[in-house]
Amino acid sequence: MTAMIVKHIKISSAVGLVNSQSARERQRTNMCSFTFYIVTVVTLLLFALYKYLSRNNGYWSARGIPEPKSAMFLFGHAWDLFFVKKNMGTITADYYRQNKNASMFGLYMGPTPVLIVKHPDLVKFVLHSGFSYFAQNFQLNKKTDPLLYYDPFFQADQMWKDSRGIFVSAFSAKKLKDRVSAIKDTCDQMLDYLKKTTGNGPYELEGKDFFSNYTGGVAARAILGIDAHTFDGQVDRYSLRNMMDTILVPQSDKGFKHNLIFMFPFLAKIISIAFVPMWINRAYAKIVDELRALREKEATPRNDVLQHISEYLKEKGMDKDELAAHSFSFFIEQYETSSLTMSFIMYFTAKYPEVQEKMRAEVDEIMRKYGTTSSYEAINDMTYIEQVALECLRLYTPVGRLTRFCTKEVTLEGPDGLRCTLKPGDEVGIPVNDIHLDPEHWKSPEEFNPDRFSKENQKARNKYVYLAFGEGPRLCPGARMGLMQVKAGVAAILNNYSIELSEKMKEPLELDPRYFMTTIRGGYWIRLRPRT
Ligand code: HEM
Repeated sequence: MTAMIVKHIKISSAVGLVNSQSARERQRTNMCSFTFYIVTVVTLLLFALYKYLSRNNGYWSARGIPEPKSAMFLFGHAWDLFFVKKNMGTITADYYRQNKNASMFGLYMGPTPVLIVKHPDLVKFVLHSGFSYFAQNFQLNKKTDPLLYYDPFFQADQMWKDSRGIFVSAFSAKKLKDRVSAIKDTCDQMLDYLKKTTGNGPYELEGKDFFSNYTGGVAARAILGIDAHTFDGQVDRYSLRNMMDTILVPQSDKGFKHNLIFMFPFLAKIISIAFVPMWINRAYAKIVDELRALREKEATPRNDVLQHISEYLKEKGMDKDELAAHSFSFFIEQYETSSLTMSFIMYFTAKYPEVQEKMRAEVDEIMRKYGTTSSYEAINDMTYIEQVALECLRLYTPVGRLTRFCTKEVTLEGPDGLRCTLKPGDEVGIPVNDIHLDPEHWKSPEEFNPDRFSKENQKARNKYVYLAFGEGPRLCPGARMGLMQVKAGVAAILNNYSIELSEKMKEPLELDPRYFMTTIRGGYWIRLRPRT
C-alpha cells in the first residue's frame, strides 16, 4: 500500500514535473513569440519612420536641380545648424560656392527640401514680381508666443496686411518726424552718460551692450512714451532691457531652441518650444496694460507709437487686446537690428581712420548747418554715414537668409535653363549673406568700402543683390526709422569723440553661431577719446 502511495506520488510528481516543464516551455515559447512580435513591430515602425524621414532623399536631383551630396539622414545639410556650429545665414555658404554657376540649387534642412534661389532674376521673382506665389514667411505658434505671433514677419494673408499696415503708417514720412524727439532725447542721455563716466579721459566700451542701451532707450520713448533709464544701469528682471536680452543674447541652448523652431516647426509645436519666454509675454503685457490705464485718464492724446497702434486698431475694428502684441513687435524689431548695425559701424569706424575722418567731416558740416546732429533734416543729410551703415549691413547683414513659402503652384525658370515646379508649402531660401559676398555681384567683396553705396554706384547695381532690408511687399517697413536712429546715434558720438579699436577686440572677426542674427564672438570693443 505504502509502495503504491509512493509510486503514485512519484508518478504524480513526475506528471507535475512534466506539466510544470511544459508550462515553462509554453511560457518560454510565448515569451519568444511575444519578443519576436515586439521586435517585428519595432523594426517595422523604425523602417516606416526611416522611410518617412528619408522620403525626400534625392528630391532635388529627381527634379534636375543640383543638390550637394553630403545630405545626412534626418539632418540633411543642417547638421551644423542643428548643433549650433553655424547659423541660418552661414549654413549655405559652402554649398553656394559649390554651385557657383547654377541659378538655384536644393538643400535639405532636416528632412525638409529647401530650394535656394541665387540668381537676381529669380530673387526678384520670389520676393517681388511673383509675390502672390510666395506670400508667406515662417509662422509662430500663437499659444507659445502670444505676442510675437502678431509680428508681420510671422504673419500671412489679411492678418499680415493688418499688422504690416500698423508699421507702414507709423513710419510714414510725416510720422517719422514725430519719432525724432525720441532719438534726440536718447542721444542727449547717451552723451550725458559718457561725459559723466569718461570725464576727460579715454573710455573703453563693448559696443553691443552700449548700443542696446541706446536703441532700447529710443524704442521705449518712441513706442511707449517712457524713459526706460537704460543708461542708468537699472537692469532688473522686469526692465525692458533685461526682457530683450533674455530673448536675444546669444547662448547655445537658446540657439538650439530657435533653430528647432525654424527647422522642425511641427516638433517645436508638439513640445511647446517658445521663441519668447512666457514670463516676458506676461510682464510686457502688464506694462502696456498699466500705460493704457494711465492714458485713459489723460485729457490730451500722446504722440507715440502706442497711441498710433491704439487708433489704428480702433479704426480698422481690430481687437484692442492686440495693443501689447503689436507694440512688442515694434520694440523687438527696433531694438536689435539697429544695435547690431551700430556695433559694426563702430568697429569699422575704429578700424579705418580715413573713413572715420570722412564721417566726422560730414558731422562737422551738419553741425555748422543745423547746430545739431539730431533734427530730422540733419539726419537726412548724413549721406556718407548712411553709406557706411549700408556697407556694414552688406558685410554683416543681421538677417543672413530670407525665407518664403510657396502659396500657389508655380514654375521657376533660371537663365541657365534650370526649371523647378514648386507646390504650396514648399520652402524657398534667399541666401542674403552669400549674395552680399558674391564676387559676381561685388568687386573684392571682402573689402570694406562705403563708396559702393554712393548714389551713382547704387543706381548702376541690380537692386536684388543687396537685401539687407529684404525686398518687395515684405521689405522692412522700419528701414528708414532704423537708419535714422543708427545715423543720429553714430553722429552724436563722432561729434564728441574719436573712436579707436580696443586691445580687447578679437580679430579676425569670428561669427557667433549661437544666434540666428549675424553677430560676432567676444564683443565689439572700442575706445572713445574726447575730441579736443
Ligand atoms: C538696421 C535696421 C534694420 C534692418 C537691417 C532690418 C532688416 C529687416 C529684414 C532683412 C527684414 C526681412 C524682409 C523680408 O522678408 O523681405 C525685415 C523685416 C521687418 N522689419 Fe526690419 N530691419 C531693421 C529695422 C527695423 C525697425 C526699426 C523696425 C520697426 C520698428 C523693423 C520692422 C520690421 C518688420 C515689422 C518686418 C517684417 C515685414 C513683413 O514681413 O512684412 N525693422 N527687417
